[in-house]
Amino acid sequence: MSMKETDMSGRYGKSIAAHTRRSRVIAGGVNSNVRLMSRPVPLTFSRAHGALIWDIDDNEYIDYAAGMGPTILGHNHPRVLAAVTKAMQSGQCFAGQHELEAEFAESLVATIPWIENIRIGLAGSDMDLLAIRIAKAVTGRSNILRFTGHYHGWIDPLLVGAGPTKSPFGSPPVGLGQSVAAASEIVMCEWNDISLVEQVFAAHQIACVIMEPIMCNTGVIPPQPGFIEAVKVLCKKHGAILVIDEVITGFRVGLTGAQGHLNVTGDITLYAKAIANGYPMAAIGSSRELMAAVGRGEVNHSGTYNSGYLSVAAGVETMKILVEENPYPALQKSTVRLVEGLRKIGSGKGLAVDHVAGSLFQVRFGAQEVMPNREHFAKNSDQPKLMKFLDSLQDRGVRPTSRGLFFVSVAHDDKLVDRTLEIAQAAIATI
Ligand SMILES: Cc1ncc(COP(=O)(O)O)c(C=O)c1O
Repeated sequence: MSMKETDMSGRYGKSIAAHTRRSRVIAGGVNSNVRLMSRPVPLTFSRAHGALIWDIDDNEYIDYAAGMGPTILGHNHPRVLAAVTKAMQSGQCFAGQHELEAEFAESLVATIPWIENIRIGLAGSDMDLLAIRIAKAVTGRSNILRFTGHYHGWIDPLLVGAGPTKSPFGSPPVGLGQSVAAASEIVMCEWNDISLVEQVFAAHQIACVIMEPIMCNTGVIPPQPGFIEAVKVLCKKHGAILVIDEVITGFRVGLTGAQGHLNVTGDITLYAKAIANGYPMAAIGSSRELMAAVGRGEVNHSGTYNSGYLSVAAGVETMKILVEENPYPALQKSTVRLVEGLRKIGSGKGLAVDHVAGSLFQVRFGAQEVMPNREHFAKNSDQPKLMKFLDSLQDRGVRPTSRGLFFVSVAHDDKLVDRTLEIAQAAIATI
């Protein structure tokens, strides 16, 4: 066992046995490397409903991992469940088109003013790959500028060393088995450092800049005022494409995502996670002009499971609920209640809570001020303390993601938020 080796609380016996069984036949006992981080072992879950989730030891958790972000309406939302159940009775995948695709695309285009044309895929990583392909095809260039601490999926060339970058001119380190040639296309900059971005544009032919509009894969770190606008100006000046990866922030920070919140837009937008409330679906959206080469078949985007009937049914219904019911003010209210409660509870213990907008936030132990980039975040996030706090929360029935990111859903009512705060108070007393 490579993680916290013992189950001191005795709460996870069945999960430990299930992990041992799985590990004999599944590499590491998990099917996504991110899940290797769970403690004491990657847990095994039996069911989830609303804001709650249960593991096979029958431990109940208030779930803030929310499937790593997707379940904005809570697990098993009755309307989404009904739509998927109905779709399931008509078939699964058709190797052809179905009417729900147009319905989903029309509602996305109607909701997001800067999108005219979309493609539907399976996961965020697919859409990131397609975005850089389009940018390379349109510009005839191959270099991609991205930011330290941001994440754009597990595919080459985008998965490169996430560590602090002093010089934007060297190729970033890659993981074992990854393409060094592909990684040489990537130029890294520190988030919020516009002078580095300027230097890169002066030295390289850049096809696109790709960013999370609010960095959510290393803390929750906003762009400094004017930063994205300045990047956009540089993109325009140099004929590069600005790709905004809203895989986490899309439909979570608000109906129009982080771009709507920040009032600045890119050329290509990527969605996944919250668009289908937990079903495998992602989308790329842009102008008709930028998507044209994909439509002509010149830029390849393919996939057996793309726009699967069940997933699109979930996407159509999720979008309808988000538009019709506008849960965002209530989501914001419960998130702020939780954020402020945690700040109060943790003030004497060095707990910082980073919240920018919408229903997600990060907890860490370190300086209270807003962090500008990954390097500052790393210096101001005491990992052993955070892990102890997260373990203590989990043992008491609260489950954020394994790096301390919380996703709030419409199913987290005031009662659950208050219960979370009581548990957090008990957990922080152990730190
Ligand atoms: C901002 C961002 N982009 C892309 C991805 C990749 O998405 P997926 O895991 O669906 O491939 C993620 C995953 O967490 C993400 O956070």
